[in-house]
This record gives sequence, structure tokens and C-alpha cells, in this order.
Amino acid sequence: MSTGRYYTLVIAACGAVIGYYYGRRTPNQAIQEKKPRKTKEIHEVIMFSDEGLISSKHYRNSVTPGMDRVLHYLNFPRHTLDVCMYVMTSPDICNVLLKLNLRRVKVRVILDAEMAFASRSYFSRLQRQCIEVRWIKSSNIMHHKFCLIDASTESNEVVPLLMNGSLNWTKQATHGNYENVTVTSQRELVEGYMKEFERLWVLFKPIV
Ligand SMILES: *[C@@H]1O[C@H](CO)[C@@H](O)[C@H](O)[C@H]1NC(C)=O
Ligand SMILES: *[C@@H]1O[C@H](CO)[C@@H](O)[C@H](O)[C@H]1NC(C)=O
Ligand SMILES: *[C@@H]1O[C@H](CO)[C@@H](O)[C@H](O)[C@H]1NC(C)=O
Repeated sequence: MSTGRYYTLVIAACGAVIGYYYGRRTPNQAIQEKKPRKTKEIHEVIMFSDEGLISSKHYRNSVTPGMDRVLHYLNFPRHTLDVCMYVMTSPDICNVLLKLNLRRVKVRVILDAEMAFASRSYFSRLQRQCIEVRWIKSSNIMHHKFCLIDASTESNEVVPLLMNGSLNWTKQATHGNYENVTVTSQRELVEGYMKEFERLWVLFKPIV
């Protein structure tokens, strides 16, 4: 193949990739202008226990039924995902966050400093992909375990959700521990946690 044809092919391939992403975004934006805010309610209790693994349509590896539901929700965000998590070392969840980031979802992560330090490779993987991670140096534990889905966007086309509970995002917790998580779109709860997230986001510092 001549160099000229090779370059044409490369440019066409890039065009197709850009077109794909652009095409995905435009219909969303078009709908957004017409429709009023969604009023759909979502409430779910997710239990983790010592059940076996199932295959998941949300992930390539087999996961526990609880994890399947968590991954279902973690695939939801169209615009933003704000994570506030005491310990986060699950490679499965790391992969999901990186995938969201590629889909141009704005991901923000707050971790406990001591726990983050113990899992340095994990957050540096996030940071390499330009996902901002913050913590605070303090003797107090950042013991929250929640995340907010599409809660910090102005878009009307989303259902802002809170997911909270006892679950650390670790392999141990998602594969065998007894844990419980609730997902809710109840406005008072979403807003209460969002307010706290924004407060911590300003107070806490990027990890350098
Ligand atoms: C989630 O947070 C709400 C409000 O703080 C609380 O009532 C609920 O028990 C929490 N869910 C779990 C599973 O801890
Ligand atoms: C979260 O993970 C840490 C570190 O593995 C562990 O010490 C802690 O007990 C866990 N907390 C909960 C509530 O599971
Ligand atoms: C369920 O969640 C609550 C609140 O997060 C926690 O105190 C409790 O220990 C959890 N239960 C189990 C079995 O993990």
C-alpha cells in the first residue's frame, strides 16, 4: 500500500471514531432541549452475601448478584459520577470508572488518605486518565461510602441517584462479605449527600 493511501485510511478511521462519539452525544442534547425534567423514581435495596458468581451483562467477568446491580448503576451516568469512598481497590470498579471517563462522564473521586496511600497504584491509574482524586491529610477517617450518579449536572434528561451503604469498593467486600447498599432518587437524600460532596471537594486537596 502506498504511504498516501495509508494516511487516507488512518484519517478515515479517526473520522469514524470521532463521528461515533459525536453521534452519541448529539441526540442526547437534542432531546434535552425538548423534554422537561424526568420524574422517574428509582429505589432499590442491594444485598451482598456469600452467594456464588453469575455472569453479568454489565461486565466481562462473573460477579456476585449484588455487584451486578452495582455495576448496573455505575453504567448509568451520562454526565457525572461523584464517588466518596473509604477504601476503593476493586479492579472491576476501577475499569468501570476508566470506561466512564472515556465516555466523557466527569468522574470525581474522594478517598480516605491513609487507605489511598496503601493502594497508591490504584489511584495513580485513575489519575493517569485525568480522573481527579482528592483526599485530606487528617487523623480523622474519611469513612463515607457513597456515590452520586448524575447529581452534579444541570441536565434535565437524567435521574440523579444516590448509592450508599456499608460497601467498600474492594474485592473482599464485593465478593463474599455481607453488605447492604441502597439506591435512591429521593431528592432530599441526593441533595443532602451532594451538598456534602461539594463541601469536601473544596476542602480536600488533589493527591500529588
Ligand atoms: C443511606 O443513607 C440514608 C440517609 O443517610 C440512610 O437512611 C440509609 O440507611 C443508608 N443506606 C444504607 C444501606 O446504609
Ligand atoms: C472497609 O475496608 C477496610 C480495609 O480493608 C476495612 O478495614 C473496613 O473494615 C471496611 N469497612 C467496612 C464497613 O466494610
Ligand atoms: C447494613 O448497612 C448498615 C449501614 O451502612 C450497616 O451499619 C450494617 O452493618 C450493614 N449490614 C451488613 C450486614 O453489612
